[in-house]
Formats: sequence, structure tokens, C-alpha cells
Amino acid sequence: NDIIKKLLISGGGLVNLNTELDFERAEEIALEYDRIVELEETVDVIEELLKDEDEEDTKDLVTRPPVVCVMGHVDHGKTSLLDAIRSARVTAGEAGGITQHIGAYTVQTESGTITFLDTPGHEAFTSMRMRGAQSTDIAILVVAADDGVMPQTIEAINHAKAAGVEIIVAINKIDKESANIERVKQELTEYELIPEDWGGTTIFCPVSAHSKEGIDDLLDMISLTAEVLELKANPKRKARGIVIEAELDKGRGPVATVLVQKGTLHVGDAIAVGSAHGKVRAMIDDKGKRVKTAGPSTPVEILGLSEVPFAGEVCMAMDNEKEARSTAEKFIAYGREKMLSETKSQLSLDDLFDQ
Ligand code: GTP
Ligand code: MG
Repeated sequence: NDIIKKLLISGGGLVNLNTELDFERAEEIALEYDRIVELEETVDVIEELLKDEDEEDTKDLVTRPPVVCVMGHVDHGKTSLLDAIRSARVTAGEAGGITQHIGAYTVQTESGTITFLDTPGHEAFTSMRMRGAQSTDIAILVVAADDGVMPQTIEAINHAKAAGVEIIVAINKIDKESANIERVKQELTEYELIPEDWGGTTIFCPVSAHSKEGIDDLLDMISLTAEVLELKANPKRKARGIVIEAELDKGRGPVATVLVQKGTLHVGDAIAVGSAHGKVRAMIDDKGKRVKTAGPSTPVEILGLSEVPFAGEVCMAMDNEKEARSTAEKFIAYGREKMLSETKSQLSLDDLFDQ
């Protein structure tokens, strides 16, 4: 009761017996009672957890669809290209269902399913492009034939290379009169992207999102590249994925678009996503349809999280809600510890004496 009274007076908001305190508050209070509290070693726990997850039973591995990230300079036609790919692949009966609301889509082709992630080309979205590159197998570098290599083209190349992702170049807008395919090829040689007909190894596909020219060819090249990569995942294990985007929806609460990378996510699964946790209340696929399960390389919107997670955060299915919650708490503590250690290393004793 004393502690609750103290907390109320100090303006900590509504508190009761079940209120959880952060470490800092707990430490302050303990000090008032001449006690010292210590933070449990949590970093190791998280690392242990992630390590466990990485051990795969190879017998359960099956081929999964490639995840393809569309990158490039602003206005070079990334979204248009994705729209063209989708509309070319949508059967008549499905036509009404392509009101896409998430930046990730799956497309069926003759040679299998492909998952696409759209990224914005505006310079403000560096981290999104970086995440895009990191969560994908193949990057489609879109370069407008009338504009050529631009700052975010170069940035996208660097992100893709840093992430060790295969790059396929799509020279877009070839329908335009001012299009100059050869110039784009020439400019890209500076970045070690050399077309096969010039003795290099990079696949170049001239395309037009408007006339749809070259789209089928591009899809074939993606499938061929994916085949070589021999992409596999185990659909039987607990799901693990990455948050592509997340927002607070007025009616639905926190909504996160998650790309499932391993395992299968089910409605009802307990999940931990960074500092957020919860139980998957509903899942909506890229066609706006409610689904019960989502396997490897599938993007889905999930409802039921305690808060809006950050994009790029890892999403893990857990055995139960309690475990999900404690994992989220460990993440919070881990983040705080990391921050503390970073500030500490910035201000070493040497620095103090130097001044
Ligand atoms: P950000 O997401 O803002 O980076 O742009 P984006 O790369 O997604 O480009 P978007 O698809 O929005 O297209 C930009 C403009 O280029 C639009 O006005 C499109 O109509 C036009 N455009 C895209 N593809 C083509 C094409 O193949 N030919 C022609 N002529 N115009 C195109
Ligand atoms: Mg776009």
C-alpha cells in the first residue's frame, strides 16, 4: 500500500496491485527502502531463443516462393510495374479482387508463385529500402529508360549488394519516345551490373508497365533465378516472419503486415513482435480475404497485437500468450540495455579525462 500511495503521489497514473513497473521505477523505489534491484540477464535469453529457431529439420524443408523486392528511384515506375504484373496475372473472375491495400502481393505464374514487396523511391525511405532488401531473395532494380541512373537507384544497388541479394534490372518506360535502353546499360556498368550480351552476368529486362511489353519475360527471369537459388522453408515449424508495415487502425486496433518467412502462422497463435505481443485474432491476405493460415513467403495483415510494432521487427509465434508476453518484455528490456550500453561506450572514462 505504501508503494502504491507513493506511485500515485508521484504522478505515475493509475496504479494497483497488478501494475507492472519498468526497471527504472522499480530501482528508484527499492532504493528508498535501501534495497538494490538487478536486471535479470535477458540478452542471452533472446539470443538463445533466436538460435533455437534457426535450427531446422532438413527433412521438413520444402520449396517456397521467392520474395522479390521492387526497388528504384522515385517515379521510375515500381508500383506501376507491380500493377501491370498483377493485372496481367489476374483471371477474369478475380478482377474485382485486386483492391490491394498492402505493399506486398503474391502473384501466380506458370512456373509458380512469386511474392512481391513494393518500396517507395523517395529519399526519405532509406530504411524501408534497406529492410526490403534484407527480407528478400531477389531485388528488381527499376530504372526508367528516359531518366537513367539516379541517386536512389544507386542506393538501392548498395542495399541489395550489402544484403547479398540477386539483382535483376528492369529498364522501364521503354514505350516512351525519349527512352534510351543502351544509356541505362552503360550507366549501370559503373556499378558492376553488366548485361549478359555485354559479357556480364546481370539479367536486364526492358519493360513497359504501360504497354505491358516485356512483363512475361521479366516473370520468367524471376522464376529462373529463384530456381537456381533453391529456396526452401519448413512450413511445419512455429512461424517466424518480419513486419513490413504497421499502423493503428481506428476500428481494428494495431494492424501489422507480416511477411511469414518460416513455418506457418495460424489464427489463434500467440505471437511476440518486438515489444508488442498478442494472439492472432484475424488474418487478411493481399486480396483482402480472411485466411486461417499463412505459410512461408506469404504476406498477411494480422490483427490482435497489444501495440503497433515497428516495421522490420521480427514476429515469432510462441507456445502460449504468457510466453509471448514475456518475450515481448524481454525485448523491451533488451532494447533498453542496448541503449544503455551504447551511451556508456560513447562516454568512456578516457573521454572525460581528455576534456
Ligand atoms: P514511388 O513509389 O513514388 O517511388 O514511384 P514509383 O516508382 O512507384 O512510380 P509509379 O509507378 O508511381 O509511376 C510514376 C509515374 O510514371 C506515373 O505517372 C506512371 O504512370 C508513369 N509510368 C510508370 N511506368 C510507366 C511506363 O512503363 N511507361 C510510361 N510512359 N509511364 C510510366
Ligand atoms: Mg510506388
